[in-house]
Amino acid sequence: MSEQSKNHKARAQELVSQMTLEEKALLLSGNGSWTTHPLERLGIPSIFMTDGPHGLRKALGPNIAESVPATCFPTASALASTWNTELIKQVGAAMAQECQANDVQILLGPGNNMKRSPLGGRNFEYFSEDPTLAGQLAASYIQGVQSEGVGTCLKHFAVNNQEFERMVNSSNLDERTLREIYLPAFEIAVTQAQPWSVMCSYNKVNGVYASENHLLLEDILREEWGFEGAVVSDWGAVHDRVKGIMAGLNLEMPGSGDVNRKKIIEAAKTGLLPVQRLDEVVASLVAVVLKAAESRKTGVTFDVEQHHALARQVAGESIILLKNEDNLLPLDVGAKKKIAVIGAFAKEPRYQGAGSSQVNPTRISNAYDELLAIVGGSERIRYASGYDIEGVTTAQLLEEARQQAKDADVAIVFAGLPDSHESEGFDRSTLDMPEGHNRLIDAVSQVQPNTVVVLMNGSAITMPWLGRVKAIVEGWLTGQAGGGAIADVLTGRVNPSAKLAETFPMRLEDTPTATEFPGLNQQAHYGEGVFIGYRYYDKRNITPLFPFGFGLSYTTFAYSELTFSAPSIKDTETLTVQLKVRNTGKVAGKEIVQLYIREDRPVVSRPDKELKAFTKVALEPGEEKTVSFTLKQRDFAYYNTALHRWVVNPGRFDILVGGSSRDLPLRKHVQVETTQVTVPTLTRNSMVKEFKKHPKGQEAYTLLKNVIMGSFEEKRHVKRTPQEEYAWKKAEMSTLVFVNDMPAYKLINFSEGKFTEQMLNDILAQVQ
Ligand code: BGC
Repeated sequence: MSEQSKNHKARAQELVSQMTLEEKALLLSGNGSWTTHPLERLGIPSIFMTDGPHGLRKALGPNIAESVPATCFPTASALASTWNTELIKQVGAAMAQECQANDVQILLGPGNNMKRSPLGGRNFEYFSEDPTLAGQLAASYIQGVQSEGVGTCLKHFAVNNQEFERMVNSSNLDERTLREIYLPAFEIAVTQAQPWSVMCSYNKVNGVYASENHLLLEDILREEWGFEGAVVSDWGAVHDRVKGIMAGLNLEMPGSGDVNRKKIIEAAKTGLLPVQRLDEVVASLVAVVLKAAESRKTGVTFDVEQHHALARQVAGESIILLKNEDNLLPLDVGAKKKIAVIGAFAKEPRYQGAGSSQVNPTRISNAYDELLAIVGGSERIRYASGYDIEGVTTAQLLEEARQQAKDADVAIVFAGLPDSHESEGFDRSTLDMPEGHNRLIDAVSQVQPNTVVVLMNGSAITMPWLGRVKAIVEGWLTGQAGGGAIADVLTGRVNPSAKLAETFPMRLEDTPTATEFPGLNQQAHYGEGVFIGYRYYDKRNITPLFPFGFGLSYTTFAYSELTFSAPSIKDTETLTVQLKVRNTGKVAGKEIVQLYIREDRPVVSRPDKELKAFTKVALEPGEEKTVSFTLKQRDFAYYNTALHRWVVNPGRFDILVGGSSRDLPLRKHVQVETTQVTVPTLTRNSMVKEFKKHPKGQEAYTLLKNVIMGSFEEKRHVKRTPQEEYAWKKAEMSTLVFVNDMPAYKLINFSEGKFTEQMLNDILAQVQ
């Protein structure tokens, strides 16, 4: 714990010791929707917290549409596509300045849940399907915000991957899947960046509400990861308030008046809630309040234009070039070509998601105006809306679009998902865009061979027209400055450098959760286990529409010279991996270098490969740089559920490096030895064959095996005809298979008691 945190904790404990029971209970619940209760008698102020995550939404009242003007940055799917941790830090710092200017102490973000299904209603608000990528981006976000003295609230902890029945659903999953997929993004963010607070989610995890989940809030978050802050409930996630306190939930949000306060007081009086526990929970909350109060800055203002410019820069790095046949893009602005801009999103962009994250932007740029400004001369740009706000088209709208497209040299169709298709509160029912958008693209591409599609959506969509258009630009929900950024990319002012942080599948039936999502009867069964996102497509050998990590550039890159610091390492050592990447094209660009690890002979069913490191490198034409990564034990490990810890299975691991999960030109293997003793404990339930593998089990194995195989041993040398010998050998072999797979205790019954409980206990004692 840092000195500053220790200080706050000590002062908080001192203050708690002076509080009455009523005062403690008062502090544990919000004062209305967005603030904590002050305790003037002890000089404890109230603090203000509000959404997040991609801009400040300081509510002016209960209506979420009414909030102070703030810069609307790209949403998390877009931010994640930058793979740029430094840039995300800058966004965090800028949002925090806006918080300081508006006297907000905690920003409710980042959202860090895994994108289990592309249908997840809040996918636009989450980073990735990969825990390493999401974890590192969340850590950068937190570091950026907190560097300006504003706290974050990492959410929604945990396994909150759907909107359907989100307040009651139970996410049911096995321990390995929890540890390897759904927790690491939170773990990385907490251990690397110490958010001031964590928001527990609405859902249950394996039947226990996240807000009452001792395993999550206390054992894992605090004990294992060393979280020092306060746990805040999602808005209305509290059920049994006292159970929540026992489990490690500090603050109930929003306030519940005196409903839960009375329950806390009652439980403390009857002894159901030990005072010491109550004090601990109040003290960690007060420590955060003290830190927030101390970090408050007065008289802060922010430069609206500068933040808009930053939003444009980030949006430019978020936009992914998915297809670019014949190098149609960038548009040659000087060539005096006629451009048809088609689709209402060009003038009325969809630039953010709906729900609690909805920011009231300081201004909005649209791609039509921005293109006009860059290209100049309105006679060169024509427009047709193509569809209405709900994405519905008509014969007349299609005809207008066709006319405009036909008369131009290039057509740019803006399409995507309207608000009604994607929002907090419900999941998507289809991967498809509205029919009107697809029909519009079809109509335009029939008359204009040079068709570009620009997409505005928060999560993956299908593209039935993929083969009929020359270029595709994934614009995401790029925030208030997205229009300018799209114009920058289309005209080559910005060379696209973003890559997918989530797989785009061909069709819904191909997705890992096709048969499961979002569950029924308040139960979501995570039957796909650790195989989500690319882990699933790789394992099933399914070709996605666009793979994880994919994205084009206006230049090209070449990879070479993969080297390791050693050909083999112990798992207590680190491995330094180096390689070279060169810009082989004619313009400056940035490449996202990705490193994946594959275990050669896993002892559990592992993904084909997993992302373990990445970096973004800027390169001038012809320039080459050396990239270096350091790998450690955890990068090679899997979560062993018998030992309840991360374990490296010794052996060979392939290191794969390249520019996409499906394009990894550099490969080399390393041998990793383990220093951990991973001997499993043998019990009466262990199978006979497990004794054979155990380092101390050779003698025990022979004894156990011979309880049944003994009869074969005795008669081994009896004279038999070749036919009898053959039958005898066959019987011996199948009996041995039968014995090997038998739990040891069954030998007692099979031997009709000749092999006794006592003999079994003696054998078990030998192998401990
Ligand atoms: C959302 C949170 C949000 C909170 C406050 C909840 O419904 O799930 O993400 O921070 O409301 O607006």
